[in-house]
Amino acid sequence: MITRMTTPMDNPMNHRDSGYPPEQCYPQEQRDAVYRVIAERRDVRRGFRPDPVPADVLGRVLAAAHQAPSVGLSQPWDFIVITDRARRERIAALARRHSGEFAAGLPGARARAFDQLKIESILDTPVNIVVSCDRTRGGRHTLGRRTQPQTAEFSSVLAVANLWLAARAEGLGVGWVSFFDERELAAELGLPAHLEVIAYLCLGYVTSFAAEPELATAGWARRRPVAWAVHAEEYGHRGMPGEAPMDPLADLIAAITPPDAEAMAAARERQDRMTKPRGSLGVLEEVSVRLAGLAGSCPPPLPEPACVAVFAADHGVHAQGVSPWPQEVTAQMVANFLAGGAVVNAFAAQAGAEVTVVDVGVAADLEPVPGLLPRKIAPGTADFTEGPAMTREQATAALVTGAEIARDLVAAGNRCLVTGDMGIANTTASAALICAFTGADPAEVTGRGTGIDAATYAHKIEVVCRGLARHLPDPNSSDSPDSPGSPALGDPVGVLAAFGGFEHAALAGFILGAAALRVPVILDGVIAGAAALAAVALAPDAIAACFAGHRSAEPGHTVTLSHLGLRPLVDLGLRLGEGTGAVLALPLVQSAARALRDVATFDSAGVADKL
Ligand SMILES: Cc1cc2nc3c(=O)[nH]c(=O)nc-3n(C[C@H](O)[C@H](O)[C@H](O)COP(=O)(O)O)c2cc1C
Repeated sequence: MITRMTTPMDNPMNHRDSGYPPEQCYPQEQRDAVYRVIAERRDVRRGFRPDPVPADVLGRVLAAAHQAPSVGLSQPWDFIVITDRARRERIAALARRHSGEFAAGLPGARARAFDQLKIESILDTPVNIVVSCDRTRGGRHTLGRRTQPQTAEFSSVLAVANLWLAARAEGLGVGWVSFFDERELAAELGLPAHLEVIAYLCLGYVTSFAAEPELATAGWARRRPVAWAVHAEEYGHRGMPGEAPMDPLADLIAAITPPDAEAMAAARERQDRMTKPRGSLGVLEEVSVRLAGLAGSCPPPLPEPACVAVFAADHGVHAQGVSPWPQEVTAQMVANFLAGGAVVNAFAAQAGAEVTVVDVGVAADLEPVPGLLPRKIAPGTADFTEGPAMTREQATAALVTGAEIARDLVAAGNRCLVTGDMGIANTTASAALICAFTGADPAEVTGRGTGIDAATYAHKIEVVCRGLARHLPDPNSSDSPDSPGSPALGDPVGVLAAFGGFEHAALAGFILGAAALRVPVILDGVIAGAAALAAVALAPDAIAACFAGHRSAEPGHTVTLSHLGLRPLVDLGLRLGEGTGAVLALPLVQSAARALRDVATFDSAGVADKL
């Protein structure tokens, strides 16, 4: 499932096969031209020439747009052709205002990247075209529109697509601008109230067409491979026609390979030539070497922009009275993260990182709001003292979900992932997982979580012991005895299913996803640590992607870090979770990469080396 992002050969359009059925198939040359225009259509923002667009060319392009398919043949579009400079200046001012507001809401690294992007060419192009939609055209019996009124808008978008392709064939660049308040723009264009703006397009001849989307070249976002988008029969069964269906977890694990030894050696060698005493950057030198090994290049790309994914879920073991907090706090804190009011939001704002919240198992219905990714496996796990916390299928689904979140965040342009978590009672589940994966004693691993008295603490240890006794997991043995009602144990997925929270399983998948894409993932505290134990048990090379953000005050975290062989970057006695400790370490990881990239070497700077 997770492999490299894309290459031109991933594109089946590049393969020359005989068409079928042959008599209706276009000749090869004409098919090539069709696929060529599809592949070479670009959203163009730069390099427009001032030459006017002849009326006959514009007419052909508009006629192509007008041949688009439409719901019930309703043809809901109209095209408003704009050339007047004063009008375009007013429209450009509208777009500037909204792009300014968008920029103001971006986290630091994204804001800097956005500043470098060109997002409209309203005044650089000789002609602008607005494509509108009339949702009422054709009357109440328009075929196909009754249950899906939005098919009217879909139809107008298809007109845009036709226009865009025809324009490319004519050598005309087209840029789509959507930084508008739709009603404001409609008023400027004199659109009647029953018409809405679908697209604002800027057209003109260009000096050249870029081979790749500008947003991809600029590192803002990446292309998803076509295989990620194709599912056989049911959503989630990914695979291209003619290929064996994917096993998402097995493919994910197979995609994780060891770090690049050559890049690591080059990074070590460069550290020694940098204008500083050898070894003087301490642990950060090793961080830079590991980043190079992961990326397979020296220097590695800067790990920015970064995104914290806060995986949230509830736990059946809460019923055992292991936490002083009511379970509803999980959902309430999710609302707080989304409103920007939690500590992780403050730390992320300071570090210039984005915060996204993933509901993998909160025991409440959450309102859909921007920033929330609804990926609920189930509304909370079962109590692991009474049976397995989740089924094996649920554990696998959560692992795959976490990996997909990693993949989507990387496709959206992030170059560093940061783990976060929220789930009342999740330190209890973490303690059980850590004992199961490391063989450590529950009394050594179990901590006081958010703060509990001595009696509750003793009870919490007893709950962990009871869970372990019930499920008897042995992650290293394939013939471990199953207790009645347990999932098949003796494997990391079984261990996750027995004790895990959905956030643990999803975080394990998130770590595996990062490793498969060779993007660093900064781990927060004990919850992320427990998840990393599962990830590394599934794919030992995943450790190459993991950077321990901090050492949590939870005792199980120290056990986990030594088992994983990771050295925490920050050790401040934090025990909050949410991703806070990991976000604090983000500037350290970024600085390590930047130093390797930016610091001059003795030879380049003409500085004498130590004798
Ligand atoms: C609905 C829609 C709205 C878009 N709005 C903007 C925009 O406001 N500014 C911009 O620069 N590009 C905009 N684009 C262009 C996309 O960024 C571009 O299509 C995408 O990066 C893929 O690149 P490509 O079209 O060159 O393949 C828009 C595209 C679509 C389909």
